[in-house]
Amino acid sequence: MKNKYLYINTMGCQMNVYDSSQIQNHLAPLGYKPTKELSQADLIIVNTCTIRAKAEQKAFSFLGRLAPLKKANPQLIVAMGGCVAQQEGKRVLSRMPYVDLVFGTQAIARLPKLIRRIANERCRLVDTELSLELKPEDIIAGPFPKSDTSAFITIMRGCDNYCTYCVVPYVRGRESSRRPEDIVTEIRQLTDKAVREVTLLGQNVNSYGQKEGLCTFDQLLERINDIDALERIRFTTCHPKDLSRPLMESFNRLGKLCQHIHLPVQSGSDAILKRMNRHYTRQQYLDKIVQLRQTCPDIAISSDIIAGFPGETEADFLETVSLIKEVGFDGLFAFIYSDRPNAPSVRFDGKISEQVKKQRLQTVLKIQEQVSRQKNEALVGTMQQILIDGPSRSDGVKDNSNMAIPGGTGLQWCGRTKSNKIVHFKTQIDLDSGNQILTGSLMDIMIEKALPHSLWGRQA
Ligand code: SAH
Ligand code: SF4
Ligand code: F3S
Repeated sequence: MKNKYLYINTMGCQMNVYDSSQIQNHLAPLGYKPTKELSQADLIIVNTCTIRAKAEQKAFSFLGRLAPLKKANPQLIVAMGGCVAQQEGKRVLSRMPYVDLVFGTQAIARLPKLIRRIANERCRLVDTELSLELKPEDIIAGPFPKSDTSAFITIMRGCDNYCTYCVVPYVRGRESSRRPEDIVTEIRQLTDKAVREVTLLGQNVNSYGQKEGLCTFDQLLERINDIDALERIRFTTCHPKDLSRPLMESFNRLGKLCQHIHLPVQSGSDAILKRMNRHYTRQQYLDKIVQLRQTCPDIAISSDIIAGFPGETEADFLETVSLIKEVGFDGLFAFIYSDRPNAPSVRFDGKISEQVKKQRLQTVLKIQEQVSRQKNEALVGTMQQILIDGPSRSDGVKDNSNMAIPGGTGLQWCGRTKSNKIVHFKTQIDLDSGNQILTGSLMDIMIEKALPHSLWGRQA
């Protein structure tokens, strides 16, 4: 079989990262090998995201840049997958004349068939079928082909929560969970390779298995915690309304579970939370934070905020600001509200101007920067166990804030604490032997300096 090359551009969330590795798995038997060179590709797949308007524009603009490649090589197959593909379906074919295939979020297992047909018949195809009730055994899986230290595992698909701003239920379908035994088998296969850390993915992992009567999420975690070669377990995302006591207790009970929870609050105003259909109040959210910290004092908590939801008054926004200050999140992702097709909030009145939305975003980011800095500074002088991801990008690597980390010459490495903070550190081990020895191992690091978005330390 002749070698063919597959270039995948993955946009959006970790679900898409997982799906892209599944796409790679499904196309390997057809002879497709991954490439990082666009010009070498025989097949280009763009795995898209539509969570905000900007994400959708990014997908179309990347596809737009492929036109000359297709002109130069008419045999090239160009495919759009993921959430924009699911949302737009066949409209993509008329908008983008050189796109050969549009495939939705549940079509990955059918990709080999679709690609073969296109290669043989040079036809243009659309497969955006969305089954409303995926059975646990129908959720595709399979081990990753690569040998990273850390891997994502989708444990459930879809979402039933219908937050009024969100497009996910429409492009990913109804919530359905995979069987626990399939998940455990997949993780065992990964740890047989080099994986030491898994991040379990779902839009609301706390309702894992409930609909299907499988097991609860904390019971699933317990089974995964028993996998010998695994060192660390993470998960994302948790909906505050479903955060249960047994899950909170898991952070203490299960040695491999990292003490970090991402608990998106979206807004600090009860009126806005109601319009968002979030099913909790500000006070209920704050109570869960108190319970979490009582159960597990060292837990790191991060969150998401939407700035400028329709109808958000200055007073509503100030409630969000005060909530952020009160909680003191370890990390915060803040987004400007974006109208999405299908999402009910598109029809809400009280839309906020772009200028005000941007101002509110900046205010939130500024406050969080101070909080993050204080949190990082509190770690200086402590010993942290980190899981090593690999060498830092280059000597004199920069923190996201563009601030050089100290250290002069020598090798810099990068890893994460249990609470998911990035730590740069130096070691004497040289890159060639060290790359194999250090990557994937645990090391105790003394934290010496706080940077705005990461930490600097030395091997203890
Ligand atoms: N299932 C996850 C969130 C997935 S989307 C959860 O509920 O926690 C990731 C984040 O994108 C959301 O938490 C929200 O803050 C943001 N988001 C979703 N839709 C958005 C929109 N229309 N405009 C702006 N931000 C949005
Ligand atoms: Fe979207 Fe809400 Fe589902 Fe998260 S819980 S994916 S924000 S609908
Ligand atoms: Fe993820 Fe974006 Fe789809 S956030 S689920 S890739 S819309």
